[in-house]
Amino acid sequence: MKIGIFLGSTTGNTEAAANALKAELDKAEGSSCEILNVKTADLDAIKGFDLTIIGCPTWNVGELQEDWAAQFPGLQGMDFSGRKLAFFGCGDQVGYLNNFQDALGILGNVAVAKGAEVYGFWSTEGYDFVQSEGVIDQHFLGLALDDDNQPDQTQARIEAWSRQLRAELGI
Ligand SMILES: Cc1cc2nc3c(=O)[nH]c(=O)nc-3n(C[C@H](O)[C@H](O)[C@H](O)COP(=O)(O)O)c2cc1C
Repeated sequence: MKIGIFLGSTTGNTEAAANALKAELDKAEGSSCEILNVKTADLDAIKGFDLTIIGCPTWNVGELQEDWAAQFPGLQGMDFSGRKLAFFGCGDQVGYLNNFQDALGILGNVAVAKGAEVYGFWSTEGYDFVQSEGVIDQHFLGLALDDDNQPDQTQARIEAWSRQLRAELGI
């Protein structure tokens, strides 16, 4: 399976998470995983992957990270019918408790509306926040990381989510 991780990252947390995720997913026999930064990447490249993983932190109180914000109109115009997508994000559940991980919802809802098959829903257990656009039925639309408040949990969460994705996809 060809896996593309498309990320945007302003202070490096999402980029570090993408690298850790790639290290885990590269363990899947027969799979290859490539990282693309949406600061320069063309979203059309999504079409070349069997699984697209989108990594976006939430910034500026409930908004997309700036490089994803710039790419958002293009994303809204894409057709994801039959495409496999998964999402992860970085956020701060203490400082932004009413907007924790909103980016997961902003991006995930577009993908769902455009026909994507979304993998890797993630339980909200173990987090403490008030509101999030990124939650449906007590699950985040993807992996939620919080390096501001729970940095010691990041690696274990990435490993668990990778195992979950591999099980869901059979890779
Ligand atoms: C000005 C500012 C606004 C932020 N807004 C949010 C927010 O609305 N929701 C959230 O969950 N995190 C918010 N964060 C936290 C970042 O998402 C978090 O620090 C993340 O790890 C940054 O990822 P990056 O290093 O990949 O850019 C904000 C941080 C700053 C400095």
